[in-house]
Amino acid sequence: MNILLLGSGGRESAFAWKISQSTQCSQLFIAPGNGGTHAYGKNININPNNFDAVKALVLKENIELVVVGPEEPLVNGIHDYFVNDPELSGIPVIGPKKEGAILEGSKDFSKQFMARHGIPTPGSESFTNETLAEGLAYLDNHSLPIVLKADGLAAGKGVVICQTVAEAKEELQLMLGGKFGTAGSLVVIEEYLTGIELSVFVLTDGDNYVILPEAKDYKKIGQGDSGLNTGGMGSVSPVPFADAKFLKAVEDSIIIPTINGLKKDKIDYTGFIFFGLFKVGDKPMIIEYNCRMGDPETESVLPRIENDLVELFIATAKKQLGNYTLNISPKNAATVMLVAGGYPGDYEKGKAISGIENIRQSLAFHAGTILEGGVVKSNGGRVLAVTSLQDNQFEALQSATADAARIYFDGKYFREDIGFDLV
Ligand code: AMP
Ligand code: GLY
Repeated sequence: MNILLLGSGGRESAFAWKISQSTQCSQLFIAPGNGGTHAYGKNININPNNFDAVKALVLKENIELVVVGPEEPLVNGIHDYFVNDPELSGIPVIGPKKEGAILEGSKDFSKQFMARHGIPTPGSESFTNETLAEGLAYLDNHSLPIVLKADGLAAGKGVVICQTVAEAKEELQLMLGGKFGTAGSLVVIEEYLTGIELSVFVLTDGDNYVILPEAKDYKKIGQGDSGLNTGGMGSVSPVPFADAKFLKAVEDSIIIPTINGLKKDKIDYTGFIFFGLFKVGDKPMIIEYNCRMGDPETESVLPRIENDLVELFIATAKKQLGNYTLNISPKNAATVMLVAGGYPGDYEKGKAISGIENIRQSLAFHAGTILEGGVVKSNGGRVLAVTSLQDNQFEALQSATADAARIYFDGKYFREDIGFDLV
């Protein structure tokens, strides 16, 4: 079948790599793709949020399956657009409808969902401009540090951890005052958790689910987890501290209640659910849902899945995922992200990239790259994801890090310590 993948990052490169290996895939189209995805299919330069352009492409190329990488088109209702259009309604979309994507699109909604279904999450209250006085009073009586979250999508920047009440009060007023636009017109104030973070993912057809390999993302820009938050500087899978007992607790206390909660709330969900978790003592708690896979977690997760991914997608669309078990490689994956100098602040684009052909034991998943006149150039903050799959974690980390050093572009930066805290 002909397949359309929407998105342009490292996550989508990993999806394109995996989808292109499927015996079920005739032609793969990636919209818009990046400077590397043409290795797996055909790039089409349209914006995934322009649904009419997506429709025209789907009809022109006889697309029979659509896979949505990023959250934005889902939160904007691309799946609903397909369902409501007579020419598109028979074409399966992997990714939830609006009513499911709101688990990521509104932190307030997701906190209420977790509370309603007894899913362990830190305590919280939500406030708006109308309830600002109550919000300020709430902060006066809260333990520190304290976490403030803009309700809506804020490009990964909407979470601020405050160390003092004064700082939290100022931040609450800034957010409600429009610091993150309308995303912050509702603010969730959440208890701060002390523990270690990891991500768990499922693919669900609404009734059944398969649990994908877990991963750990390294969010800070600097070595030793210092400095500003980024979209993610690297990832590993498996995660050594997530043993079988812990993962069973994740399934029992978080995954199953989430799937059952969606059913109880009559939310028909098709696609990935990303559970952002903390291990607190030996118990899992959830801090967020995303309605898509993680980036750069996907780059470490997909190489460990041995199944044909398109078969899994078809089963998802037919609500037959219950007939499938995932075959997960016992190998270890490590991903190191190469980023532009200055990122996550201001950075330059258009730097020629060389040396990708010199990597020895890794896959180079393009992220913010573009092909211009036969030259691959940087075109974003996170430029390339270098993933290595090896027999043990140390080897995976070593080869991904060594291969990251073999690639060059002006201003290139990467963390040399991804995953080494875990070995
Ligand atoms: P998010 O944008 O929701 O992924 O949050 C960004 C980061 O903020 C997370 O990866 C955590 O490191 C941190 N964070 C979010 N919520 C909490 C919390 N309740 N306690 C401690 N850290 C948190
Ligand atoms: N790496 C975190 C995310 O994809 O949200």
